[in-house]
Amino acid sequence: MKRTIQVKEVPNLKEAAKRELNVKPEFIYQSVEIDDTMKSIGKNKKFFVRTYGCQGNLRDGEVIEGILARMQFEKTEDMNEADVIILNTCAVRENAEKKVFGEIGLLKKLKLANPDLIFGVCGCMVQQEHIVKRILETCEHVDLVFGTHNIHHLPTLLKEAYFSKERVVEVLSNQGNIAEDLPSIRASKTKAWVNIMYGCNKFCTYCIVPYTRGKERSRKSIDILNEVQELKDAGYKEITVLGQNVNAYGKDLNDISFAKLLEKIALIGIDRIRFTTSHPWDFSDELIDVIAKYDNIMPHIHLPVQSGDDDILRRMGRRYNSKTYLELVDKIRSKIKDVAITTDIIVGFPNESEENFENTMKLAEKVRYDGAFTFIYSPRVGTPAAKLKDNVDMKTKKERFNRLTDLISKIQLEIYKKYQDKIVYVLVDGYSKTNDTILSGYTEDMKLVNFKGNAKFIGQIVPVMITNCKTFTLEGEMVETRCLNNQ
Ligand code: SAH
Ligand code: SF4
Ligand code: F3S
Repeated sequence: MKRTIQVKEVPNLKEAAKRELNVKPEFIYQSVEIDDTMKSIGKNKKFFVRTYGCQGNLRDGEVIEGILARMQFEKTEDMNEADVIILNTCAVRENAEKKVFGEIGLLKKLKLANPDLIFGVCGCMVQQEHIVKRILETCEHVDLVFGTHNIHHLPTLLKEAYFSKERVVEVLSNQGNIAEDLPSIRASKTKAWVNIMYGCNKFCTYCIVPYTRGKERSRKSIDILNEVQELKDAGYKEITVLGQNVNAYGKDLNDISFAKLLEKIALIGIDRIRFTTSHPWDFSDELIDVIAKYDNIMPHIHLPVQSGDDDILRRMGRRYNSKTYLELVDKIRSKIKDVAITTDIIVGFPNESEENFENTMKLAEKVRYDGAFTFIYSPRVGTPAAKLKDNVDMKTKKERFNRLTDLISKIQLEIYKKYQDKIVYVLVDGYSKTNDTILSGYTEDMKLVNFKGNAKFIGQIVPVMITNCKTFTLEGEMVETRCLNNQ
């Protein structure tokens, strides 16, 4: 028998695309309310949360875990023993969505074996009308669907799913508020993500994010600085401040600029500060100067270019051209010593010609990126680009994609080779993913280093002599004496 569905709100693309500048976001303090029935509902029960997508979404996953822990659920890494399973999804490309539907299918057997299991799906995917429809129609075992704007409602939504036995759906398509005082279980004890703003107003023509994340809205600087101070006091060594376009920070609030915010964060004195993502369009001189001035702001800038062709950039709605982008890169390099620059590139935007693509190759050759995430364009329902008829076949796109990744890897290896016999400073994350006698971590300029060293240095910044350079990683040995002197 089909269960009834309690639809509180389903997403709506038109609503999600609205940007009313006079409507200010509401700041909700003490945003997570847990009523008495839910305060200890998780006792002797476990949760499993899996997150896909960007760092912003990973941060949301940490908050979801924190909220569940407040109801006394315990975290498990094994979904087979979980009483609550939540998939926190990403919608940026079709592949991400396919994986999630695959996983939803696999989870059916767990729900059949344990009918009391609560299975929730949240995140960017379910901010889309057609996805919610598909889940409701074809995935009867999903109990709870909630979106990116109402994570702090989780206790109430979970209560309804538990006690009503109905399937509960609440996905808001408003422009978004700002929920503060969110509990969280951070993934690391040394590195933390800090949101400084939510949403995006850029509406690049290929991108779903502005629809799934709402209006660009900044947290108050005081709330951000308090969070950073708490992280410092808790012993964190690195923070990454997050936003879809951090350079736009504060513009909606009449608060300080991103450059000023970053300076204030630097002055708190955390060892390493990173930020992502910065859109080339509003990257200010003031920001470059602040990055150059403070040693604890890391010399790495992720500067997504998307394409090296002016016509494609215009059609993507990126608001810069190859010339202004290259000028920005030059300015950054002239002012910030030893800065690493990485990027995102989309291959196969609708009707991309061979000449358009060649311009991207040329730009990649000129910039010489320290690394790049490259993607094949994926049409996203409801975006302007998805309505375009495309005259380029997938075989051509894949062939261009391979040419581009070959070029990027070749240049990357050349850059990485310059680290041979040099000493770099690595914040030690833990054991390498593939070998538990080898430690791994990142340099100041964001190179992954695998090295022989003592596990007692996990969580610390140590000097490492580079002995071998590969395309994506450096290998080396810890310089023990220098390090011991520091103790
Ligand atoms: N706000 C960030 C990007 C967030 S999405 C920025 O503007 O830089 C991360 C990356 O995914 C983008 O930079 C883009 O390269 C890629 N991407 C976004 N939409 C895509 C699509 N429809 N198809 C393929 N790649 C896409
Ligand atoms: Fe997407 Fe463009 Fe916004 Fe980045 S700036 S999230 S690519 S719309
Ligand atoms: Fe994906 Fe949403 Fe992030 S679409 S990339 S999880 S903002």
